[in-house]
Amino acid sequence: MTPERRDQLTREAQATLRANDRGGYTQPTAGLYPFQWDWDAAVTALGWITFDEPRAWEEFRWLLKGQWHDGPQDGFIPHIVFHQRADSYFPGPDEWGTPKTDPPTSSISQPPLHATMLRWMWQRARDKAAAAQALREIVPAIARHHAWWYRTRDPQASGLVMTIHPWETGRDNAPSWDEALARVPRTTRPYQRRDLDHVAGSQRPTQDFYDRVVFLMDFNREANFDPGVIARECPFRVVDAAIVFILHRATSDLLALADELSIPIDAAALRAARARTEVAAPQLWSQTLGLYVNLDQVSGARIEQPVHGGFLSWYAGIAARTQAHTLSAWLDDAPFGVPSTRVGADRFEAQRYWRGPVWQHMNLLFEAGLREQGETALADRVRASSLALFDASGFHEYYDPLTGAGLGGTRFSWTAASWLHMRS
Ligand code: DGY
Repeated sequence: MTPERRDQLTREAQATLRANDRGGYTQPTAGLYPFQWDWDAAVTALGWITFDEPRAWEEFRWLLKGQWHDGPQDGFIPHIVFHQRADSYFPGPDEWGTPKTDPPTSSISQPPLHATMLRWMWQRARDKAAAAQALREIVPAIARHHAWWYRTRDPQASGLVMTIHPWETGRDNAPSWDEALARVPRTTRPYQRRDLDHVAGSQRPTQDFYDRVVFLMDFNREANFDPGVIARECPFRVVDAAIVFILHRATSDLLALADELSIPIDAAALRAARARTEVAAPQLWSQTLGLYVNLDQVSGARIEQPVHGGFLSWYAGIAARTQAHTLSAWLDDAPFGVPSTRVGADRFEAQRYWRGPVWQHMNLLFEAGLREQGETALADRVRASSLALFDASGFHEYYDPLTGAGLGGTRFSWTAASWLHMRS
């Protein structure tokens, strides 16, 4: 890539975040996603820190306006915070029906990237005094969120947190969820999808998917958002390897930040949770696929689907040597990597959301983990693929791994933020 093109992409990325800024939070993209999303916000803050440090910390402060405070859900950070009304998205706050109203939120979470993004932001920040002040506010709230994950999503202290909604995985329609979701009844109530007003249906989840995830949203409300009832009775209960790995890594970063800045948190409980995950993680290893995979909590079976979440094991510091061969083979098969489902697999669809397309923020995490674990050649391949996609197609929501074409939403915040972080 020429230096001129790099400068142009940097200007466009900064303009994208400015255009999506809603005065404290950043919408992922206009129309399709008009509110603040949890894991989007964490990645987006990583972009802001490269050119507007105060704004980066604000992104987290605004996200935490959505955190729940007492009762069994204490510490919960929802996947959507509805800071304003907008009718271009379904399901809005009235559909979720949560008791929190100022601001209203959804009732499920998302992969907890926060502590890792915060640590990287701390390392980058030039104004260390302002950064330390922000972290003293934010880190205790994130520690309560980790406690929420371990307490409510792993009530048996097995070491493997579960998730109770495909939207909570952030990788909504990944092929791994198909069987578990097929057990969930289709809702029979009327509702109006809005995503198809913005993006072609061939790039979005199916109607069958929506009917079942709406049922799950309503199930949460009918369970009065009680995590005990949900953990026992929710018809969709899976262990998502990506969430396990992201949480595990984030717990290490949380402990490190708290230690470095002398912020009081319950470090012993977090260390114990980490130790349990280290012991339990081998249960996610698929000998057949040479890859960490997901687990169906209801059937007890591993879900033998080749989806890319397992490649976050390096990022978590739980790598298996043979997985390097698997990633290498995946990259050989895909002109642009890393595809969210292996090219050529039965359920691979090049353009449908999480069933094949490449996501740049995932590549960012893969590259970081590979580099940290000494898999330099693979890290370089992932990086080269990402840079080629930025160069060819700009800041789309996701990309076709066969052609490199941009897909989904345009002028997308976390994609622009990923460029800002990765360019240097
Ligand atoms: C959507 O609406 O597509 C989101 O991924 C749910 O958070």
